[in-house]
Amino acid sequence: MTETITVIPGDGIGREVVPVAVAVLDAVGDFEFTEYDAGDRVKEATGEALPEETKRAAEESDATLFGAAGESAADVVLPLRSAIDSFANVRPARAYPGVDALHPDADLVFVRENTEGVYAGIESDLTEEVRTLTRLITEPASRAIAEFGFDYAAEHDYEVTVAHKANVMRRTDGLFLDTAERVADEKGADYETALMDALAMHLVMNPADYGVVICPNLAGDMLSDLAAGLVGGLGLLPSANIGPERALFEPVHGSAPDIAGEGVANPVATVLSAAMCCEFLERSESAERIRQAVMEVLADGPHTPDLGGTAATEDVERALLDRL
Ligand code: NAI
Ligand code: MG
Repeated sequence: MTETITVIPGDGIGREVVPVAVAVLDAVGDFEFTEYDAGDRVKEATGEALPEETKRAAEESDATLFGAAGESAADVVLPLRSAIDSFANVRPARAYPGVDALHPDADLVFVRENTEGVYAGIESDLTEEVRTLTRLITEPASRAIAEFGFDYAAEHDYEVTVAHKANVMRRTDGLFLDTAERVADEKGADYETALMDALAMHLVMNPADYGVVICPNLAGDMLSDLAAGLVGGLGLLPSANIGPERALFEPVHGSAPDIAGEGVANPVATVLSAAMCCEFLERSESAERIRQAVMEVLADGPHTPDLGGTAATEDVERALLDRL
């Protein structure tokens, strides 16, 4: 079967790294790609950062590969994630041989609730001087993220930590934690729990003690960025937004206007996002081939400047395709 992939390069280096990921996907499988616009460029031309046809394409294809948007990122990424009902944001952060990382033994996967918490958008102005935000936690969303996280950990052989702050946010994180514990019991899975603030410190000192970390929305956002710093930076970090039927894959980084147009962006984050896409489409062999090629290129070079090298994006592309 040929799967359909919506390709949205977006802005800045998104336009430089997404074509590399498409070439890599093309080398390992039989996919049908259709390219759509989103981001600052199309907003300038039409007034809309996320054209209706782009959103519809993401809703209808098997998977979407997105690069990055610039200033309009929130107007693109958030509606795209909700268009596919994405409830789980998966962010692996692992160190690779050949890359200078603070913690060469780190191999973490953040499984972050993607729809609620303090990002549910429930804010109000009580008076001109007082504003509030409501932290939304529901049993169904907590259950969905816990089930996904425990299944992911079992499949990939990781230990599970559930991050929370139920000692302070007793009602909301109490529900998040209780639900995760119930899911673990149902699955007969081992796990530990960790207060998210202390966990931040432990992750910096001993990341190798952790595997899959299941988190509420804001904690997952922050802890995964922290972990990015442990393993060598944004040029390496992929992510997946998983929905019940579809998924959206994107590097964690943005459009990097400081280097856009120079042809030196590191394509690895987007290429590893493409590997996650293969895995989602149940093409694990293709996913493994991509990861293997990435590991070899990171170990032997060439490296782009963010990793201390002098290579161009296209040099890394050529090295990856040679190995595939
Ligand atoms: P950024 O991730 O674009 O860049 C941060 C730093 O990391 C820059 O110095 C950049 O050169 C470097 N960098 C990032 N990716 C790299 C790569 N693949 N290779 C080499 N170096 C890389 O974040 P920043 O600067 O905060 O935001 C820039 C723009 O991107 C903003 O307009 C922001 O709104 C947007 N953005 C979009 C996101 C998205 O579309 N999902 C996510 C984050 C930011
Ligand atoms: Mg973030």
